[in-house]
Amino acid sequence: MSAPPEEGAGEAGPFAAAWAQRARVAARPTDPGLLLVLAPMDGVTDHVYRDLLTSLDGNASGISLCVSEFVRVTRERVQPHVLRRACPELDAGGRTRAGVEVFVQLLGGQPEPMAQSAALAAELGAPGIDINFGCPAKTVNDHDGGASILRTPCRIEAIVGAVRKAVPAAIPVTVKVRLGWDGAEHLPEIARGAEAGGAAWLTVHARTRLQLYKPPVDWVALGRARQAVRIPVVANGDINTAGDLQRCAAQSGCHAFMIGRGSMGRPWLFRQLRGWEGPHAPDFDPLRYRALLHDYAARLLTAGATELAALGKLKQWLRLGAPAFAELDALFQAIKGVPRLPAALHHLDTAPPPAPGPRPRRESASRSAGSASAPAP
Ligand SMILES: Cc1cc2nc3c(=O)[nH]c(=O)nc-3n(C[C@H](O)[C@H](O)[C@H](O)COP(=O)(O)O)c2cc1C
Repeated sequence: MSAPPEEGAGEAGPFAAAWAQRARVAARPTDPGLLLVLAPMDGVTDHVYRDLLTSLDGNASGISLCVSEFVRVTRERVQPHVLRRACPELDAGGRTRAGVEVFVQLLGGQPEPMAQSAALAAELGAPGIDINFGCPAKTVNDHDGGASILRTPCRIEAIVGAVRKAVPAAIPVTVKVRLGWDGAEHLPEIARGAEAGGAAWLTVHARTRLQLYKPPVDWVALGRARQAVRIPVVANGDINTAGDLQRCAAQSGCHAFMIGRGSMGRPWLFRQLRGWEGPHAPDFDPLRYRALLHDYAARLLTAGATELAALGKLKQWLRLGAPAFAELDALFQAIKGVPRLPAALHHLDTAPPPAPGPRPRRESASRSAGSASAPAP
């Protein structure tokens, strides 16, 4: 991968400091070094995916922190097995086997059950609690959860505050939002609500709820959230390359970042961003990628997935990763209609490279993620 542009890196400021120390894995946005969080993606970044990604290259993945899939909290405190199912790492000190912390993600609008569920997660060993106010799924929003809370920013402080009070002070409570419901004008108020409730930091996906996953992201708006509060703001949305990260930093002023779908196109992106991949490492290495997909399938089966479920996850990975490289798109096309896992794995090894020339236009992965499965927050 070519060296990222040094835009902004020479200037004084938190991003320049973080970038200068990017080889250092910050565990919190306030730590020295660069914070790179693996985004929660329901149905994608489950514990198998988290384990695989954080263990890359001998546990030197470059990932600072993970967040579990969401746990929906309605009227009552959730049961321990529900928390453990979303975050099996709770039984291992709240960390992946590579030692990366996994925050438990809670989604709900009622302060009391949210607080009780957070307290239980903390008791079970969660190293942090992340509150989801960004989920755009209609079913969730219709039941007072996820991004629907952004329509009434005044509620944010109470929900975050109740959770903050319920867990020990040493355990960070963090908040993830979108820019707003249908515009970004309330973002400063949303950010102030999270801060007043006691959030340690705020992650903002730079799209509105109405946008779902459609372009464009508005990284500039993140700067307005940052200026409204003293807590760190973690930037999220369409950071898929080192150049994207540099542009996002320049436009938002943020110095900590969360990466989701980019990790499926470039599982080694976190390493690339830290300069650990070396200046001559190819941006896409087909053999390395295919070996990783084989490893993923094997881990899914070991974790108890059926062959059909593992096949579905493999296809999902390639579908979400396909926008990054024509090679991944070609692999996805090669296996998307294949009904059996062994045959799909065989195709991965034998699929011809993509034909030269422009790629056919297809619905982008981000659009399909937004419009597809209801739980995709
Ligand atoms: C399939 C899918 C599932 C997601 N699930 C969650 C979730 O459970 N909680 C959450 O806060 N965000 C969720 N997100 C949003 C991502 O965390 C992230 O904000 C979004 O994908 C933008 O970042 P990216 O462009 O780096 O992917 C999901 C996104 C996708 C595509």
